[in-house]
Amino acid sequence: MPTLDGRVVLITGAAGNLGQASARAFATAGARIALVDHNLDALTGLQAEIHGSAAFAADLIQPESVAAMVAQVHQHFGRIDVLANIAGGFTMGPAVHETPDRDWDRMLDLNARTVFNTCRTVIPHMLAQGSGRIINVAARAALEGKAHMAPYCVSKAAVITLTESLAAEHKDRDITVNCILPGTLDTPQNRAAMPDQDHTQWVPPAALADVILFLASDAARCVTGAAVPVYGRS
Ligand SMILES: NC(=O)c1ccc[n+]([C@@H]2O[C@H](COP(=O)([O-])OP(=O)(O)OC[C@H]3O[C@@H](n4cnc5c(N)ncnc54)[C@H](OP(=O)(O)O)[C@@H]3O)[C@@H](O)[C@H]2O)c1
Repeated sequence: MPTLDGRVVLITGAAGNLGQASARAFATAGARIALVDHNLDALTGLQAEIHGSAAFAADLIQPESVAAMVAQVHQHFGRIDVLANIAGGFTMGPAVHETPDRDWDRMLDLNARTVFNTCRTVIPHMLAQGSGRIINVAARAALEGKAHMAPYCVSKAAVITLTESLAAEHKDRDITVNCILPGTLDTPQNRAAMPDQDHTQWVPPAALADVILFLASDAARCVTGAAVPVYGRS
C-alpha cells in the first residue's frame, strides 16, 4: 500500500461511486482530502467518515466556480499535492446525424471542460510548490468510437490528449499527469441498467481507486503521459 502521509488530495466527483472509493483509499494512505462535488449535501456522510477531510461545492463546468473552489481548498490546506479528476458522466444518444447541440455540449463540458478547468487552475499552485500529481479519468470507450456514443467517446478521447499535452508541458518540473481508462465499473447504476450482464467481470471502484492511488504515489514518480487500461475481466 503506497503512503501519502499528509499530502493534500483534491478529489472531484467525490460524492460518486469512484470518488467515494478513491477518497477512502487516499484516507487509508494518510492523505488529507478535499472532497469536491456540485452537491455539498451529498458529501456530508463521507466528510464525517473521513477524519480531517473538508468538503467544497463547485460546478466544475464553470471556470469561476472552479477558481473559487480551488482558492478555498488552497486556503484551507495550504497546498494541493494531488488532483484526482474523477467527475464525469455518460449518456447514450442518437446517431451522430441526429445528435442535438445540447447532447454534444453536455458530454464535452462534463468530461473534458471540467478537466481543463481544474488543471489550469490547480497547476499554478503545483508549479509554485515545485511538484504535483494529476490523475484524470478517461474511459476504455475513448480508444474506439462506438455507435450512439460519439459525444461520450470524443469527450473521453479529449481527456487522453489533454493528459498527454499537460504531461509534455510539465515533465521537467516533477508534475506528472496521467489518466486511467476504466472499463465498466461495478456500480449500483450499472447493475440496474445491465441486469443480464456478468458484473463479476466488471471493475470494482475500490480496485480502480488503488490504481489512482498508485499514480499519485512516489512509486509512480517516473510515470507521466500514460493512459492506463483498467478493464477487470471484461
Ligand atoms: N461508471 C462506469 O462504468 C465508468 C466507466 C468508464 C469511465 N467512467 C468514468 O469514471 C468517473 C466516475 O464514474 P462514477 O460511476 O463514479 O460516476 P458518478 O457516480 O456519476 O460520480 C460522478 C460525480 O460527479 C458529480 N458531478 C457531475 N457533474 C458535476 C459538475 N459539473 N460539477 C461537480 N460535480 C459534478 C456527480 O454528481 P451528480 O450525480 O449529482 O450528477 C457525481 O457525484 C467518471 O468520469 C466516468 O465518466 C465510469
